[in-house]
Amino acid sequence: MGLKVTVVGSQDRELEAVLRACGATTSMVPITELAALSQPTSKQPDVVVLDLREHPSVPPGLTALKRQHAETGVIIVAKTLDPDLMLSAMRAGANECVAEPVTQGELDAALTRIAARQSAPAASQAFAIVGVKGGVGATWLGVNVATALARVATAGAVLVDLHVARGEAALYLGVEPRFTVVDALDNIHKLDEAFFRSLIVRAPSRLDLLAAPDGTASSRLDASRVRTLLEFTSKHFEFTVADVPRTEPGALDALEGMKSIVVVTTQELPSVRSATVMVNRLRLRYGKERVLVVINRKDKHSEISHEDIEQVLGAPVAHAFPSDYRMTLEALNKGRPAVLDNHSSLAASFEKFARSLAGLKIEKSDTPAASGWLGRLAGRK
Ligand SMILES: Nc1ncnc2c1ncn2[C@@H]1O[C@H](COP(=O)(O)OP(=O)(O)O)[C@@H](O)[C@H]1O
Ligand SMILES: [Mg+2]
Repeated sequence: MGLKVTVVGSQDRELEAVLRACGATTSMVPITELAALSQPTSKQPDVVVLDLREHPSVPPGLTALKRQHAETGVIIVAKTLDPDLMLSAMRAGANECVAEPVTQGELDAALTRIAARQSAPAASQAFAIVGVKGGVGATWLGVNVATALARVATAGAVLVDLHVARGEAALYLGVEPRFTVVDALDNIHKLDEAFFRSLIVRAPSRLDLLAAPDGTASSRLDASRVRTLLEFTSKHFEFTVADVPRTEPGALDALEGMKSIVVVTTQELPSVRSATVMVNRLRLRYGKERVLVVINRKDKHSEISHEDIEQVLGAPVAHAFPSDYRMTLEALNKGRPAVLDNHSSLAASFEKFARSLAGLKIEKSDTPAASGWLGRLAGRK
């Protein structure tokens, strides 16, 4: 992938060869060079691979390096994944840790994650997804976009299902939440990190879900509480995706913090009619640039074309997702987002859209879902 890698403190030419096989440009320097690298004016590689297999502990130079050059990615190569070593490596600022036997697959995955992080803006981003009518596929899109973002997030991603009357995100993600968004909203004034963590459930690909009740609640949404909730998740997660019910003013009025509001339509007359009303309302409230229209289940033969929709809405369609009934049905039955099995053009389309929402450049779409060992040891921020 064309990353510049400096291998520090290694005698192992094989390691260099494997890094080259991953597409990196490499240079090898002795461990004493770490001090020179951490000078403020020192030109940085994209990634430092620090080989600690012949060294007993994490050198203090690593802390200095990361303090001066936070953006430089650091991969530790260790003999074993010793928890004490990993913890001190992580405290010193290492991003990834691989242990023997060092495989190309593992190094490539670590490099890809670092590259994704380096291209990701540090600030948190929140997105709302709303369908113009029931059944257009807003939840399915939200679940896939959130899962795709969770794979590249370094500081977490959360999907907030605001469908208090009945939410489906948990079902689509194959998880069984014990608590819901109603618990968060009812206790909004004592919402802190520990309490919030107790309400969410972990879905595949490290996505956290604040689920909606599955059909018993009848509460209405209070806009100021929803706003507070979304502000809270934006503070604690790199990515927030909100599945917004179109019939709840309390949700539609609380989207000031969103980077983009994605309006999902299909090429059917009732959808398009409803889209014009909704898009105009949202634009007035939040500004034209923030409201993105997408078409789901794109149908080339539909009487209402892509261009017709652009004309009626007076704005370009940001993205069009193909229809894939069979794959969607299978994925839903399994409770598994499509982007986790990247074998279809619909999955690729979800992935591409997620990246464009987040402003990510990296095209590589097969980033492994699992975090590095360090990530797992550290938990999430
Ligand atoms: N691109 C697509 N291709 C095929 N089926 C889809 C697609 N998008 C959504 N669906 C299916 O349409 C149905 C409604 O989707 P859902 O996300 O629940 O809609 P909404 O949240 O807008 O009510 C679901 O069965 C879903 O799997
Ligand atoms: Mg839905």
